[in-house]
Amino acid sequence: MSEPQQAPHPPAAPATSLGGPELIGQSTAIRQLREAIHHVADSRSTVLIAGEDGTGTELVARAIHDLSMRRDGPFVSVHCAAIPEDLIATEWFGQEPGAFTDARTSRNGRFELADGGTLFLDEMADLSFRSQSILLRVLEEREFTRVGGACPVRVDVRLIGATHVDVEDAIREGRFREDLFSRLNVVPLPVPPLRERSEDIPLLVRHFLARHGNITSPEKSIDADALDRLVQYDWPGNVREMENLVKHLVTLSDRPVIHAADLPANLDIRTRPRALAQSVWMGSSSLTEAVDAFERGLITEALQRTAHVQTRAARLLGITRRILKYKMDTLGIPVARPRSRSRRLKAA
Ligand SMILES: Nc1ncnc2c1ncn2[C@@H]1O[C@H](COP(=O)(O)OP(=O)(O)OP(=O)(O)O)[C@@H](O)[C@H]1O
Ligand SMILES: [Mg+2]
Repeated sequence: MSEPQQAPHPPAAPATSLGGPELIGQSTAIRQLREAIHHVADSRSTVLIAGEDGTGTELVARAIHDLSMRRDGPFVSVHCAAIPEDLIATEWFGQEPGAFTDARTSRNGRFELADGGTLFLDEMADLSFRSQSILLRVLEEREFTRVGGACPVRVDVRLIGATHVDVEDAIREGRFREDLFSRLNVVPLPVPPLRERSEDIPLLVRHFLARHGNITSPEKSIDADALDRLVQYDWPGNVREMENLVKHLVTLSDRPVIHAADLPANLDIRTRPRALAQSVWMGSSSLTEAVDAFERGLITEALQRTAHVQTRAARLLGITRRILKYKMDTLGIPVARPRSRSRRLKAA
């Protein structure tokens, strides 16, 4: 058997008082998550981390590994959705020479690479039914054979899964095997989307400003206005989207402070529904006023995007020019002259 090769993974994140990678946040949800991580770290159960894309599911998996007794063993990550079904056995269990016509050497699979440590099955609910059956068989028999091999291999691996879909829904819809789910003895660990823990946003923004500052792009600060807009935004891509945005701002802006004007314009359009809903809950506007304000915002933005050419703005909004004109009149949106072609080209 050849020497196992460690799967490449990024360097460990700095430790917190918990001893795991840094999981920033002071919201109740994140505090509870930290407690749950601590709780499950040393159990043998399979943890199933459930969160939308970009919420930090892999970070949570690493935190569990780093806090567990297995911390000195490997953490091996497998992106289940990325492996073609006919390669899954080779990827998981490795191969012996001659397994395929071009397989000249033996290769360890992910289960062997993770021996003594943790195997992280990312997007586990995306496994095909056949791959689920293969996984179930390994869990039941507690051993496997390499592709093209004859000797059974036993490993000591703790499984952690992550999913962005509700596995119980997937079971109901017949996409995930119920017997595999019960065999996994799953402890669920939900990671809430960032829009449900907006009090963490300022901490995370500062964390990423510090993380992505460097010699060529020194660390920047952010003013209150800009931060407020980031807090209002609903972050469909969660923490991953925020990290990318902050990295972009640190790299592209040459001023030491980030202002609201430096933020991308599309933040507004996604912020508006939340801010308007807030104004209804706070009693400062009625439903009709909030809906009008939302419509006004969309139409104004469509007009700006199309240099005030109403026919194009109407097409963008999926309505006729006559309805656009009617809405502009009733919502009090002034008619601006279309910008000249050369200015339009510059603006585009
Ligand atoms: N609470 C947090 N504190 C600090 N950094 C975080 C936090 N949550 C996520 N991150 C960072 O955000 C990025 C995305 O996190 P991660 O890769 O764990 O998310 P994911 O749920 O696996 O997302 P993806 O769908 O992008 O794979 C990583 O750089 C991670 O370090
Ligand atoms: Mg991930």
